[in-house]
Amino acid sequence: MQKVTLTVNGREVTAEIDERTLLLEFVRDTAGLTGTHNGCMEARCGCCAVEVDGDIVKSCNVLAVQVDGAEVTTIEGLAPQKLGPVQQVTTQTLAGVYEPVDAIRSSVEDLHPLQAAFHRCHALQCGFCTPGMVMVLKDFLEENPSPCRDDVRKAIAGNLCRCTGYQHIVDAAMEAAEVMRGSGATTTDD
Ligand code: FES
Ligand code: FES
Repeated sequence: MQKVTLTVNGREVTAEIDERTLLLEFVRDTAGLTGTHNGCMEARCGCCAVEVDGDIVKSCNVLAVQVDGAEVTTIEGLAPQKLGPVQQVTTQTLAGVYEPVDAIRSSVEDLHPLQAAFHRCHALQCGFCTPGMVMVLKDFLEENPSPCRDDVRKAIAGNLCRCTGYQHIVDAAMEAAEVMRGSGATTTDD
C-alpha cells in the first residue's frame, strides 16, 4: 500500500492505495468522480481521458502512484455545477410506475463552451464517449484555437464513439473553437 495525494478539480484527495491502482480507478473510486468512463482499460477508446498537470492522459494507462502530487482535472472540473433549487419532477421507476421525485437542476449557461456546443449540436447519443471527447478537445482547442475540421478529426483519432458518426462532434468542436476565440459566434459550416 502507498499513500497518494492528488489535487482533483482543486480538491486535495489523499488515500492509502494498492500500488497497482490505476489513475482511472483513483478518480472514480477514491475521488468519487464517475464522469470519467472506463470503456476498454487498454488505452484504445479514450473514454477515460483526464488532464494531469495540463496534459491529457488516458487514465486507464497510468498508475495513480506515478502521478502522486499532480493536479488532475476531470470532466466534472470543467463546469463546477451551480446547483439550483430542488424541483419535483415525475419519473418512471424500475417497476414502471410514474412517481414524483426531487431533482436538482444545474444551468446549461454554466457549462464549458465545449459542453454547451455538444449540447447544442447534438454531439452525443448514449454519451459514454463524451467526457473523454470533451477533455481531449479542450486540450486540443487550447493549443489550436483555429482548427479546420480535419484537424479536429485528427485530434479525436484516439477516441471511439459507437453512436454519432463523429460529424456532430466535429460540428461542436468547431463551434466551441469560435466561442473560445471570443468571437461569440455559435454557427458552424461544413
Ligand atoms: S478506458 Fe482508457 S482508453 Fe479506454
Ligand atoms: S455517444 Fe455513444 S459512444 Fe459516443
